[in-house]
Amino acid sequence: KHVIHLSAECYPVAKVGGLGDVVGALPKYLQAAGLDTWVVIPWYNKPFVSQHNFDVVYRGVFYQGSRRLEVQVEKERDDVLGFKLYLIKIPELLDRDEPYGYADESEQFIAFQHGFLHWITETGIVPDVIHCHDHHTGLIPFLMYHGDKFTALRKVPTVATVHNGQYQGWMNWNQAILLPAFDTWKWGLLDWDRVINPLAALIKCCTLYTTVSEGYLYELMEQANGLERLFAMERAKSVGIVNGIDTAVWSPEQDAFLHEPYQITDVQPGKYKNKAALCDAYGLDARKPLLAYIGRFAGEKGADLLPEIIENILGDEGVELNIMILGSGDSRVQSAMAYLAEKYQGKLGVHVGYQEELSHRIYAAADFLIMPSRVEPCGLNQLYSMRYGTIPIVRKTGGLKDTVQDIDEPGGYGITFADATPADATAAIYRALELYNNKKRMQQLQKQLMKLDFSWDKSAAKYIEIYQQVTA
Ligand code: ADP
Ligand code: GLC
Repeated sequence: KHVIHLSAECYPVAKVGGLGDVVGALPKYLQAAGLDTWVVIPWYNKPFVSQHNFDVVYRGVFYQGSRRLEVQVEKERDDVLGFKLYLIKIPELLDRDEPYGYADESEQFIAFQHGFLHWITETGIVPDVIHCHDHHTGLIPFLMYHGDKFTALRKVPTVATVHNGQYQGWMNWNQAILLPAFDTWKWGLLDWDRVINPLAALIKCCTLYTTVSEGYLYELMEQANGLERLFAMERAKSVGIVNGIDTAVWSPEQDAFLHEPYQITDVQPGKYKNKAALCDAYGLDARKPLLAYIGRFAGEKGADLLPEIIENILGDEGVELNIMILGSGDSRVQSAMAYLAEKYQGKLGVHVGYQEELSHRIYAAADFLIMPSRVEPCGLNQLYSMRYGTIPIVRKTGGLKDTVQDIDEPGGYGITFADATPADATAAIYRALELYNNKKRMQQLQKQLMKLDFSWDKSAAKYIEIYQQVTA
């Protein structure tokens, strides 16, 4: 079977968050299972692109409103990622440094989707399935089934995956002139609450959609930034499939980013060496327990709760704990972190920014990783941390609820809390500190975590089943 994935991110080419990780990993497993797997993303000015060989496989022209766009498709020559990677390049729109954050984002994503469809229809490529990730590719099924130019694709089934229902790609209706011509009787499929809503259009028009955990599938019917009713209506064509992790990239045994790799058999000395190196770099004390946070400083992640949580814990004189924070985003959280790093020097390490390497080092070094998320469709951080023998402390929501079982339950291996509030998170950290004092239990849990299987094998098999289902 020939499956084309469309996404704004793909690790290691371009990654902002978990979407990049998933689109860099799942296709590898699909290709290995025998599917002809293509990943198509916008062209980015990134090291991966300049350091690898790309061949131009297509050049063409199309119009976006009255703007003439030249599209060039480049394929990575050696399939180094374990699948076929294609980049869509369009001067002045898809030739930038980052996936997001530009004022003309709608124009960019319309051009990406139109450019892709233009390319494959002009060259007669008809895959068995087109798989769209998040709202950036949300117009694809609509355009395939109702666009004037793409009739050759009408019978191709589409699978959509919702990684994040908070962002929907809203556009004003006056931007409709930028879209390739479509059957105007069908305009309602693009609309939700009187704006063009690409995520809504994706859910309405796709053959089948998945969410990145089962828990999130149900949550979306109650909390989906305005699309609750739609998710409830369309539930018959939905499936929840929890993300896996790429165990070749995330492996304490052979992670080149680590100060020292370690095995399950020497988890305690191994983690301690990594912890000592990290603590050294950030002026912390490796003899104390280390709690970490890694992630975007965004409301969904509950990052705004962190300053109060830190004050609660580090302000308590009786507490022996070090905290390490890696993240960026919300400027209020960033400046609160800078202030707290001064105030709690020697107890709190902060790195504001995005650093892939450092994230690996922290997963390995920390004893605990906290995720006070308000919304978490799947969450990969907790999966990575467990792979490295680091105990997750998570708010019970979405994928976190599905993947972390509390130590108070039989067979449990993490710490969970009910509400995204400083009080609940703080109480959970006190539970962690109590656990830390029980050295034997800690070691047993670390080993238990490292043995858990969150690899892609199982979940990739479920996607393959879905492809079979939609093509039957
Ligand atoms: P989301 O995609 O919503 O941000 P996920 O938990 O799915 O959340 O994935 C986050 C990914 O981004 C993980 O791979 C995590 O390690 C990484 N990450 C987040 N913030 C940073 C950062 N500041 N530096 C390095 N990696 C980060
Ligand atoms: C989104 C979600 C995150 C999920 C990731 C990958 O960014 O916020 O929870 O893990 O997508 O599916």
